Amino acid sequence: MIKLDITKATQFVGCEKVKAFEAEVASAKQALEDGSRPGSDFLGWMHLPTSITPEFMAEIQACADVLRANCDTVIVAGIGGSYLGARAVIEALGNSFAWLTNKGENPNILFAGNNIGEDYLYELTEYLKDKNFGVINISKSGTTTETALAFRLLKKQCEEQRGKEMAKKVIVAVTDAKKGAARTTADKEGYTSFIIPDNVGGRFSVLTPVGLLPIAAAGFNIAELVRGAQDMEKATSLNASFDEDITAQYAAVRNALYNDGKKIEILCNYQPKLHFMNEWWKQLYGESEGKDGKGIFPAAVDLTTDLHSMGQWIQDGERTIFETVISVESPEHKLLFPSDDENLDGLNFLAGKRVDEVNKMAELGTQLAHVDGGVPNIRLVMPRLNEYYLGQVIYFFEKACGISGYLLNVNPFNQPGVEAYKKNMFALLGKPGYEAETEAIKARL
Ligand code: PA5
Repeated sequence: MIKLDITKATQFVGCEKVKAFEAEVASAKQALEDGSRPGSDFLGWMHLPTSITPEFMAEIQACADVLRANCDTVIVAGIGGSYLGARAVIEALGNSFAWLTNKGENPNILFAGNNIGEDYLYELTEYLKDKNFGVINISKSGTTTETALAFRLLKKQCEEQRGKEMAKKVIVAVTDAKKGAARTTADKEGYTSFIIPDNVGGRFSVLTPVGLLPIAAAGFNIAELVRGAQDMEKATSLNASFDEDITAQYAAVRNALYNDGKKIEILCNYQPKLHFMNEWWKQLYGESEGKDGKGIFPAAVDLTTDLHSMGQWIQDGERTIFETVISVESPEHKLLFPSDDENLDGLNFLAGKRVDEVNKMAELGTQLAHVDGGVPNIRLVMPRLNEYYLGQVIYFFEKACGISGYLLNVNPFNQPGVEAYKKNMFALLGKPGYEAETEAIKARL
């Protein structure tokens, strides 16, 4: 199992202040079970892992296999919770040079619909001109502008390049059961489609077809991912005591630190493949907790890379931060530093050592330096970077986020603030139905 070490955080805030949350954590966990607090309509993720059936997994795998058999490239169109989880897992498990080394055994997975960059979309459509590509169009609402715009372009290009019949086979929708334009299009065109359950919000949806289908299309083992999440669901059940439940401890310690003036949490990894895990985590905690004028600001760094950019700030800047490090115990590959007769670089003291040994000493040295510099440190240890432990990490962060949001006394399952920019953008673009807003916003310019 993955492990949590909070000792280098409690040395700052005191074990008592963390333990003081025990009763509140128990009550938050109870509320997540019985739906007695705000957001109760969105608790479907809680027992999602253990409710996934083998038949459902087979259905997802069968669809992924059709994409794998007919596409050299699959574009995953989605944004926020309809995008980050799949990308986090695919990049964590994939070869860092998949692009360049792909010998055709797996389709390349590319992402779109998560920005409105004209150059990005132009370059993507150019790149796809000689590709046998397919599209997984993911949007719970089915109306998100970024995703809908990209999908309109991709659908047209896919139909033109591959013909209507093949397009029908290689375009898949993951959306609401009934509402939204993505559903209407899928039904009208006869695409294979999967439903995002009503009671699972976007950022908690990675273990629904939102994440599982792209991950399976990329060639990774979704059964192992789900098994990892199931084991974490069981390990953090209502019966698990505070001392046994790492989600309870993580939620408690970060709230104790927050109450002590630590307003920013920095998620750190020492494996570049975890960059998008950082991004997924930022969205999960940022959208869940940043409301009502409250919330820890979730930041993230890739280390050791960012020790040469953000390291100075972390070591010596304002003491309002704490760190959570995802540490991977064993790499998947072995690479030793060679010895060099001339030793011009002076690195012969490392000859024969594994690259990971150096990385681990960098990690330990950084932890000690940051703790000495006044930065509380939490460590989440994954034995290996594989599907099973990623499944555990995903459920761990989701459950801890639900508890933590309730400790903060916010509704962790809504995101009312996300609407503000959309309203302005539609008013500025003159969307039908926004006439009054258009007039009002133009008067402000
Ligand atoms: O977590 C969330 O709810 C959001 O980030 C959504 O996932 C995001 O806005 C995309 O929404 P949709 O899936 O409706 O296109």
